[in-house]
Amino acid sequence: MYSKITGTGSYLPEKVMTNKDLEKIVDTTDEWIFERTGIKKRHVVTDEKTSELAVEAAKLALEMAGKTAEDLDLIIVATTTSDLIFPSTACLVQERLDNHGAAAFDVQAVCTGFVYALATADKFIKSGTHKCALVIGAETISRLLDWNDRGTCVLFGDGAGAVILEASEEPGILSTHLHADGKYKDLLKVDSPDMSSSEYERVKQGEVYLTMKGNEVFRMAVNTLGRIVDETLEANNMQKSDVDWLVPHQANIRIINATAKKLKVSTDHVVITVHEHGNTSAASIPLALDVAVRDGRIKRGETLLLEGFGGGFTWGSALIKF
Ligand code: UT7
Repeated sequence: MYSKITGTGSYLPEKVMTNKDLEKIVDTTDEWIFERTGIKKRHVVTDEKTSELAVEAAKLALEMAGKTAEDLDLIIVATTTSDLIFPSTACLVQERLDNHGAAAFDVQAVCTGFVYALATADKFIKSGTHKCALVIGAETISRLLDWNDRGTCVLFGDGAGAVILEASEEPGILSTHLHADGKYKDLLKVDSPDMSSSEYERVKQGEVYLTMKGNEVFRMAVNTLGRIVDETLEANNMQKSDVDWLVPHQANIRIINATAKKLKVSTDHVVITVHEHGNTSAASIPLALDVAVRDGRIKRGETLLLEGFGGGFTWGSALIKF
């Protein structure tokens, strides 16, 4: 028994912020941002919540899979920016989709969240207990940004990506690899808000925000993602040349290029969306996947390597026969 991706979908909020827009807010330039990160623009919410972005991505994934919400028996949302402390964003998505009874819960592994959620759904399906899962990565990370900190506010954007994962006798997800090391918890984090008011209100008031030691995160990301490429291929007895597409977390074009080099894959076989989306945390991998599926680059039967790295630190990969 395998789990197979039968549909993908994604959604971006309408509002776009270009590097030029950011020049008016912090001491930065379009040239610096593009050269150091590859980012040109990002989408940001005005007042949309994470669950709203997630639902739009989910509807498109369901449509591609030829499924309705009633068919789902599992809903997992990877997010760091849930609408509420509870109920989970997965339950809010479930309500909006009009599904009743599927298991629904959130996964929090920051930028690696989607890989964690996909691995979890894959194991539910392979165990035979569930047959049709909706797996979403959705974030409104702009709510957590300090718009006075040029070292972080230029990097992130909002969005959502989703996949439908179904039980299948044909290979789909070949393997998943998840890791974390809490020793690095302070290098990239958002302090907990005061629980006396709702998290969303506190965040809106700018009382909590994301902090990052960019340089140190960068070094760790490059080394760790290089290692996970080897681990994933070895586990499947595969060669680098067996991978058709690298679908990486979109944090920084320089990190993506370093991983592509390690994998010896040419950049035209790497899905790159960082220039248009920025770093959308848990949404970045499923967003990139959906873009390349819908524009016809990724085709059925091809082998995909998904990989991510984020706060925690967490990191992970999935090797997929699409
Ligand atoms: O998704 C989770 C994982 N996150 C990541 O993987 C992010 C990893 N880190 C990075 O992508 C990079 O470290 C950054 C893009 C955040 C920063 O790039 P960098 O090449 O590591 O720059 P830096 O932090 O070493 O800063 C170099 C200079 C500094 O100035 P001084 O001290 O040399 O005078 C910064 O103050 O660039 C300055 N700087 C900026 N200048 C213009 C930092 N941010 C900006 C900015 N505009 N936005």
